[in-house]
Amino acid sequence: MADAVDIAGVMKHLVWLDANTLGERMVAQAVRRRMKSLGASADEYVMLLDQIPDELQHLTGELIVPETFFYRHEKAFQALGRWASIERARAHPDKTFLALSAACSTGEEAYTIAMALLNAGLRRERIRVDAFDISSECIRRAKQAVYGSSSFRNQDGKTARDIYFTVNGRGHELSPAVKSLVNFQQRDIFSGDMAQLADSYDAIFCRNVMIYFTESARKRAYEILKSILARDGVLFLGPSDAPLALKAGFALCDWSMAFAVRLGHPSAADQPKTMKLPASGPARTCAAKVAARPASARVKPPDRIKPGESQISAHSAPPSLDEAFRLADLGRFGEAMSILREHLASKTPQARAFYLLGLISDSAGDKTGAEQAYRKALYLQPDHEESLLSLCLLLECAGRMAAAAPLRQRLGRIAGGPR
Ligand SMILES: C[S@@+](CC[C@H](N)C(=O)[O-])C[C@H]1O[C@@H](n2cnc3c(N)ncnc32)[C@H](O)[C@@H]1O
Repeated sequence: MADAVDIAGVMKHLVWLDANTLGERMVAQAVRRRMKSLGASADEYVMLLDQIPDELQHLTGELIVPETFFYRHEKAFQALGRWASIERARAHPDKTFLALSAACSTGEEAYTIAMALLNAGLRRERIRVDAFDISSECIRRAKQAVYGSSSFRNQDGKTARDIYFTVNGRGHELSPAVKSLVNFQQRDIFSGDMAQLADSYDAIFCRNVMIYFTESARKRAYEILKSILARDGVLFLGPSDAPLALKAGFALCDWSMAFAVRLGHPSAADQPKTMKLPASGPARTCAAKVAARPASARVKPPDRIKPGESQISAHSAPPSLDEAFRLADLGRFGEAMSILREHLASKTPQARAFYLLGLISDSAGDKTGAEQAYRKALYLQPDHEESLLSLCLLLECAGRMAAAAPLRQRLGRIAGGPR
């Protein structure tokens, strides 16, 4: 038992993981657990890593806690639903929506994607979600789709639990109608066969895993994700992942607190994928304009782009407000709030400012404050689509269907169809 763990020898097998982030103690404890279950000494264990095909994935499973829950970073799923049912539906009305949860852990993220797409009005036969994780144990549990109460931590998760789950002796069991939309596979995102998926996914979620990777592994991960993301697809990240994604050729989506990026940085145009000419049609033309914008430009929110609409309005907003959105996107809410307060106090208030105030209040759990802020935004600009949608979702999540109904109707009129 006094056997000293050969951390350096072990880490040579886990080159994509950052030993400093994981911490030596954590690595040593994980290795000891694996040594114990195999009955191996420290020296034997390093050799076994080469000899037992699945041992690397078992060790990774011990090192990275598969912490997850339904509707984690819930704004991402609200943004996904809006984007899938508006912009993406406009660009590809007849195509199945393909999504990937790239490090899905025990399945909550993948199932949430499916539920968010169903809630947004996509037809179930037009939804396919793939979900990978390196850990076969995680995949086994994901396929069971039975969860304890810790998988439902926020209001959106609890609402989903009441709609899509039944309680039995084992826990909360997901309805077969959602379960059947997700295909789980034990897969390492760095494995060579990922290339076979080239250019397929409309949306990829790769969240709360990159933080464990070395910088070079993260760069590689972005290249892989770029190659399997549809040219006009969206990549959803963890709160601290954005800076490296921008360097890798992605641009931030202007969807507050969704931590979403898409191909839009000029350096992405150097990649073969972005060299393809966009197909004709108004939505594609918008995407091409977005791709051609300078590095400093933010991607315009898709739900505000209308065919033929000028992009000038995106640049006329005061920079400080843009900066507040950027900080909020990065999860730096305190800094975003101080800019926002100044803006609301010193300038003619804009609907967009109250909208951001609503989002920040909402994410802090202050539903009353959020509702007031969205209503103020709509007082200033009755057709402010994002405020309408956010207020509508807030009311629906609280079960206030009658209050939400006229907002839904207004949204339908703005979007030009039923919602
Ligand atoms: C903290 S969980 C994140 C789960 C989910 N994405 C979320 O945000 O809630 C990280 C997961 O990444 C998985 N993982 C780590 N390295 C991986 C790799 N190279 N390929 C696929 N999955 C990996 C781990 O097994 C773990 O289940």
